[in-house]
Formats: sequence, C-alpha cells, structure tokens
Amino acid sequence: MPKSSVPGTASEGHSQEAVSAASSAPSAVASTAPGFRPLLGHSWQLVRDPLGWLDKCRQAGPVLRVKLGPRAAYLVTDPDLVHRVLTDPAFEKGGPLMDAARDLLGNGLATCWREDHRRQRPLMQPAFTLPRIAGYAEVMREEAAQLTATWTPHRETDLIDDLSSATLRVMIRAMLPTADAEAAGKVAQQVRILLDGALLRAAVPFPFLFRLPTPGNRRFDRARRDTFAAADRIVATARAKPDASGLLSALITSDGSAPDGSDAFTDEDLRDQVMTLLSAGGDTTATTLAWAFHLLATHPEAERRLHEELDTVLDGAIAGPDDLPRLPFTRNVVSETLRLYPPVWMMSRITIADVDLEGCRLPADTEVFFSSYQLHHDPRHFPDPEAFDPDRWDRREPGDRHSFIPFHSGSRKCMGNTFALTEAAIMLSAVASVWRFRPTPRHDARPRPPRSMTPADVHLVPEPRPGRLSETRGIHAGR
Ligand code: HEM
Repeated sequence: MPKSSVPGTASEGHSQEAVSAASSAPSAVASTAPGFRPLLGHSWQLVRDPLGWLDKCRQAGPVLRVKLGPRAAYLVTDPDLVHRVLTDPAFEKGGPLMDAARDLLGNGLATCWREDHRRQRPLMQPAFTLPRIAGYAEVMREEAAQLTATWTPHRETDLIDDLSSATLRVMIRAMLPTADAEAAGKVAQQVRILLDGALLRAAVPFPFLFRLPTPGNRRFDRARRDTFAAADRIVATARAKPDASGLLSALITSDGSAPDGSDAFTDEDLRDQVMTLLSAGGDTTATTLAWAFHLLATHPEAERRLHEELDTVLDGAIAGPDDLPRLPFTRNVVSETLRLYPPVWMMSRITIADVDLEGCRLPADTEVFFSSYQLHHDPRHFPDPEAFDPDRWDRREPGDRHSFIPFHSGSRKCMGNTFALTEAAIMLSAVASVWRFRPTPRHDARPRPPRSMTPADVHLVPEPRPGRLSETRGIHAGR
C-alpha cells in the first residue's frame, strides 16, 4: 500500500473544506501554563512530576501555552474543548510526539496520517466487530482460567509480568495466530522500551541527548532493531500460511482495490500493523488490571462487594460476554480504574489549519496536548477525584460524557475498546472469583509518567479465597 506524503504544513495534503475556520475576531491570548523554567520551558515539569503539574494547569485555565524547550505548544484542559480537539478535522493526529512514535513503531493504524488512516481503518475494522469479539472471548476465558492456575498461595508475585503475559497470549491467539509466541513476546517487551522512550523524547526536545552513547540510548536502539526484526518474522510466517485465520491473513487476502494490486499491503505495512497491535493492545489492558488488583487489595469494602457479586452471579464459573451485563459492580470497578489510571494518559494533535479555540487563535501547525488523566481527576466532574469509588458510576449524569475518555473519541478512538473492556471484565472476574491479593512491603503503586501509567511495582501476595480455589478449578474444567 503506497504511503501518502506526510504534510509538513497546513496546506499540503488536506482539503480546506474539512477544517474549521478561525474566527476573524480579535483573539484572546492564552495564559502560560504554570511552572515555566528558562531554557527548559515546561519540559522540566513533564519529566519531574507530570501528574502534579497537570493538576495545577487545570486550575490555570482551559487553554494554556506551554513550551517544551524551544518548542511552543498548547495544553487544553476543558473536557468540551478536548472533545472538539478529538472530533474536529482541523486537528490531525500528529506533532513531534506522533512523529517520534511513527519513527519507532512504523506507519500502522495508531500512528499513521489521515490519508493512510482512511484506508487502513475499514480494512482492520472487521476484526473488531461484536461477533468476532464474542469469538475472542473464548480465548480470553481460556487464558483467564490459565492465569488463575499461575499462582502459589502466599508466594509473592509480580502481577504486571503475569498479566502482561496473559494479555499478550490473548492478543496473539485472537489476532496473530500464526505468530510464534517467542517473536511476539519479544516485540511486546521491546515495544515497552520504545514507548517509554517516545514519551521522553517528546517531552525533552534536545535530540542530541538521545544520540549520546549512554547505556539507556544503546538499550533503546537495540530494542528498535530487535523489535522490527521480530515483527518481520511474524509477517513472514503469516505470508507462508495465507489460509490461516487472524488479522494478518485477512489483510493479506484483502488484496486492495487497485486492478494492478498496487494498494495491497506490503510486508512493511503488515509489520507496522503488528507493531500497532502489540503496542496498543497488550500492556494497556494489563496495566488496567494491575491497577484494579492494587485498588481492590487496598480497599477491602470494594473487594468484598466484588466477591459478593461474582459469587452470586457466576458461582465460580468464568464469565462469558453474555454474563457481563449481569456484573454491574465488576464493570464499575473497571471504569473506576480506567478513570483513576488511564493507560494512555497524554496525547497530542496538530492543527492543519488556523483554529479558534475558546477565543484563542491557534495557527496551523500548532501542537496541542490534552490529558485524559487530568480530565478524569477534575473535581468539577468527579467529586473527591482521588477516591476509588466504583459506585460513582451509578450516580453519574449521562450528559457528562466528555470528561471520561480512556479510549478517546472521534475518528481515532481506540479500535480495541470493546475487546479491552471484555477482556478486562473476564480476567478480573475470573481471578477475583478465586484469589485476593495483599500488598508486600516493596509494593509501590505510584504511576511512572512520563514513561507510562504502569505502576512502579505491583508485587502482591496471592491468597486463595476460602473454599473457592479448588471448587472453581473443578467448575472451570467442566465448563
Ligand atoms: C484498557 C485498554 C486500552 C486503552 C485504555 C486504550 C486506549 C487507546 C486510546 C486512548 C487510543 C487513541 C489514541 C489517540 O487518540 O491518538 C487507542 C487507539 C488504538 N487502540 Fe487502544 N486501548 C486499549 C486497548 C486496546 C486493545 C486491546 C487493542 C487491540 C486489540 C487496541 C487497539 C488500538 C488501535 C488499533 C488504536 C488506533 C486506532 C486508530 O487510530 O484508528 N487498544 N487506544
């Protein structure tokens, strides 16, 4: 599939009718975000304490000017304006953060420009329909059953490792069944290093720092080489088995519409989709589950109510998609976890035309940041925002939709959102039916931004729930 040119300016590659016009009225000047430092601008805040800084920014105004070193950008903190950034075609997925991600992960669905996106998304969409997800749910249930058999009672475990392996196995079996597990594991592990590096490289705009032969930079370069090589191997295996099921085989046989096949997927295109799936779909769900188990381990009343619901509705069986509507508290736990710790906590867009935002005129080619974490912790929309309160989802006003965006919205909304919510509910309910977790002294559940939203350390001690472990294993085997 030919790549379209990446526009460097507003005029290249984009039709004017698609973009909103800037107001000709005199424009307000956005305030500068708090925490500015000479030379570094706000990069210092983003590296040192991004979540604390975002909270101060919310109080400073709906649209703020920020500087990342010499680079000027804007930060939008109001939910309705963020919704506009996500849905108005004047804002395109781009800017230095996306350029860094595209450089590292290729031109797959999550990182490509609009022209490629228009073609790629419909081709990928059939793999994410509800009937297909119902099929993947069988794989999720099997992997959930295997996960519950992983732990030894009272022996400490690194939950992030356990959950990442389980969600990776689900992804491979569901979407990339021809991939060998070792190559996919390598991609998923190294992609973590690459994503961490991409965020850091966007926050610290001094490229020479990342060319120095430091151990961190060498590790990063090695990860990039190894990841691409492993993803190439996954594509070669899929090409050798065109009749197999899975996303790659579907893309290979989709052929493209041009008579000469010039728009068919090349090996490079396919490799980029492998990188997309393994970066967008693996750790995000594992991170959510790790936070959920941490929150339950530290909130006994919520844990008790979850157990009560699971015991009543499932009685030891592993949930399937049809059971999920009957598990409202389980779903509330997942929503509340995604509110508190959204895995994709910060993102950017670039304006492709002059735009008027809340009276501020943003010229074309302006980088605009927004943060789901910051919206989710806004006390105007979530009273007592730091509290873990799953019941708040029963009290929530239906009109207040724009303030909760773990999967974002608009044309670049997460394509795997239903997949992820189904997987999270199945894994959470399967594990919590039989296990509870207790923190260890070295358990350190602080989020690690700017690297990622993964908790710093989720070492927990699994304890079998009285009377449920052996009973449930029997039921799992029989269902
Ligand atoms: C809790 C889990 C997940 C969260 C919180 C999450 C969040 C997100 C967000 C916020 C975006 C949009 C990024 C943007 O606006 O620029 C996104 C994009 C995407 N996600 Fe997810 N994701 C999750 C799981 C998954 C899974 C399991 C898959 C695949 C099976 C997946 C596949 C994708 C893809 C392909 C895109 C790119 C969509 C496009 O640009 O058209 N995600 N995700």
